[in-house]
Amino acid sequence: MQPLADRHGRIATDLRVSLTDRCNLRCSYCMPAEGLNWLPHEEALTDDEVVRLIGIGVERLGIREVRFTGGEPLLRRGLVDVVRRTKALVPAPEVSLTTNALGLARTAEALAAAGLDRINVSLDSVRAADFATLTRRDRLPDVIAGLEAAVAAGLAPVKVNAVLVRGVNDDQAVELLRWCLDRGLHLRFIEQMPLDAQHAWQRSEMVTAEEILLSLESAFVLKPTSESRGSAPAEEFVVDGGPMTVGVIASVTRPFCGDCDRVRLTADGQVVNCLFAREESDLRTPLRAGAGDDELADLWVAAMAAKRAGHGIDDPTFLQPTRPMSAIGG
Ligand code: GTP
Ligand code: 5AD
Ligand code: SF4
Repeated sequence: MQPLADRHGRIATDLRVSLTDRCNLRCSYCMPAEGLNWLPHEEALTDDEVVRLIGIGVERLGIREVRFTGGEPLLRRGLVDVVRRTKALVPAPEVSLTTNALGLARTAEALAAAGLDRINVSLDSVRAADFATLTRRDRLPDVIAGLEAAVAAGLAPVKVNAVLVRGVNDDQAVELLRWCLDRGLHLRFIEQMPLDAQHAWQRSEMVTAEEILLSLESAFVLKPTSESRGSAPAEEFVVDGGPMTVGVIASVTRPFCGDCDRVRLTADGQVVNCLFAREESDLRTPLRAGAGDDELADLWVAAMAAKRAGHGIDDPTFLQPTRPMSAIGG
């Protein structure tokens, strides 16, 4: 086994695989209304290629968790089969999905049967009009149906990710938490990061973790959990004495890069060692040229060794990565 170690003492064991850069929503903090120049079909890895690279990660490089992301991973036709083949690897990794839940009502059961362990769903507002403003699509009922199907399929714990946008839903933290508590869903608020395709992010506009917690404390009693956070991005708080908790992912104001255990594979077969990395390492070209597993594993190890200590958002020289989050994988 070759661990995916970097020069700052971190070891990556959590692989996030973007299965497509396409999406059927247009969240304003993510991409423009007209969408983006999607990857041409031939540039995306095939199902066999994705599963082969995940296999190298799991069998040779110590990957223990595999999370499928996008764009929107439910748009990938072979998703259920890719999940099944990933779960069949030895040792079987934990397999999860981050999705906007459109179409999940139809596939949750098949995904669970294929071995999917957990699911995280993006939902920023439970008011139909604000949902439509944020995502530029009037699809709130589909998301709710998807969440219900995920719970019914036993994909527990079902987590909800919410981004608050100033002037649109920044007054809805309490309402979102009540809605999730009532349904047994685990809610986490995410600070908006400079990863949008439009490069419009402004720190002064971002709703901070501190603001979110203050707003929640107007209606709930929050106590930090006693459990250690490990490499999890969310700080968790027990709500009103428990048992439910709420999380805050404060990537910008309280970075957790020092404990990061992640590595990403893009839909076109590039290893990205950090969400904010400016360099990518191409595995698709050698893969398609006939490279063996040893060679691909060595390239992957070299890509990880170069991981920087932190995202550097506060550095005066900070530059957003070339690709937006929807193409890197959330
Ligand atoms: P679990 O905790 O295993 O359920 O998953 P997760 O929270 O890692 O996954 P999810 O895809 O739901 O990610 C939620 C949010 O965490 C993302 O939208 C990001 O805001 C943040 N996040 C995920 N990975 C990273 C990362 O590598 N760096 C930073 N800064 N934030 C990340
Ligand atoms: N900053 C923070 N979170 C983001 N997401 C998408 N773009 C951003 C951003 N710029 C969130 C989505 C989804 C998760 C995968 O990432 O809302 O919940
Ligand atoms: Fe799609 Fe996710 Fe971007 Fe929203 S945040 S447009 S759901 S990729």
